[in-house]
Amino acid sequence: MLKGKDILSAAQFSLDELNTIMDTADRYEKRVKDGDVIRDLEGLLVATLFFEPSTRTRLSFEAAAGRLGAGVISVAEAASSAAAKGESLPDTVRTVDGYVDVIVIRHPAEGSAQVAADYARNPVINAGDGAGQHPTQALLDVYTIRKEKGTLGEQTVAFVGDLKFGRTVHSLAYLMALYRNKMVFVSPPSLQMPADITADLRARGATIEETEDMEEALAASDIVYVTRIQKERFDDLSEYEKVRGSYVIDRAAVERAKPGITVMHPLPRVDEIASDVDDYAGAAYFRQAHNGLYVRMALLALIMGRA
Ligand code: NCD
Repeated sequence: MLKGKDILSAAQFSLDELNTIMDTADRYEKRVKDGDVIRDLEGLLVATLFFEPSTRTRLSFEAAAGRLGAGVISVAEAASSAAAKGESLPDTVRTVDGYVDVIVIRHPAEGSAQVAADYARNPVINAGDGAGQHPTQALLDVYTIRKEKGTLGEQTVAFVGDLKFGRTVHSLAYLMALYRNKMVFVSPPSLQMPADITADLRARGATIEETEDMEEALAASDIVYVTRIQKERFDDLSEYEKVRGSYVIDRAAVERAKPGITVMHPLPRVDEIASDVDDYAGAAYFRQAHNGLYVRMALLALIMGRA
């Protein structure tokens, strides 16, 4: 059902597709942990074009390709590609499209993954388009929630931090809405979830509350999804200075939250989760990062029709 498809936005997924991705990821996780040598993508090539910094997303896509037996070619920074000579994105994409079977792209411009998909014959996966979407992060977030909580629906999820520029929350909110969770958006007024997204989510039936009060939100939430203030998206750094450090979750905040609360973060964290939270049993952010491998294996294999 996902064969040959572009993955551009979390809003595109059906529940059936999500369930297939999660079940496939489960199988790959088991096989990797069993030490199986997997060759489902033998003979295929994946391009990772990263025009913005990344550790987890690029490396887990490349690890996923490698664990499936596919080869990888990569642009790890814009400065090392012909983009630095002024080449347009469509021209870069048309070129790379002729070398590989699937393109994974991260680019600072919102809508860039759609542009890439318009010019590529092969499937394109959006690994982050500016402040737009980051659908594969949302998939691994859902996989993590399923594993940590044993269920995907009927929960309250607090999203904390930079909801304006944070593409991971733009994506995850669509999936949480699909699973009928209640969402509480916690941010400073200047970093609220974009109104068009909130309206779209409500039109899809989502229950959403917006507040500045993190403590109150955490007392009522089963999961808190913390985000970094996206410094690189601010035109005016003095505006960043005003909001940096707005919300910090430390061990004391966790103790006051709803018992058993799961703490998630797409990483990298800067100062928004204190290190004294790391040995809290519900601190899921490093497990979350590891889950990216299995989910990206599943996605690559399904898109190539070889899962
Ligand atoms: C996120 C991103 O790039 O949007 N990182 C990631 O992919 N795990 C979050 C961030 O940079 O704050």
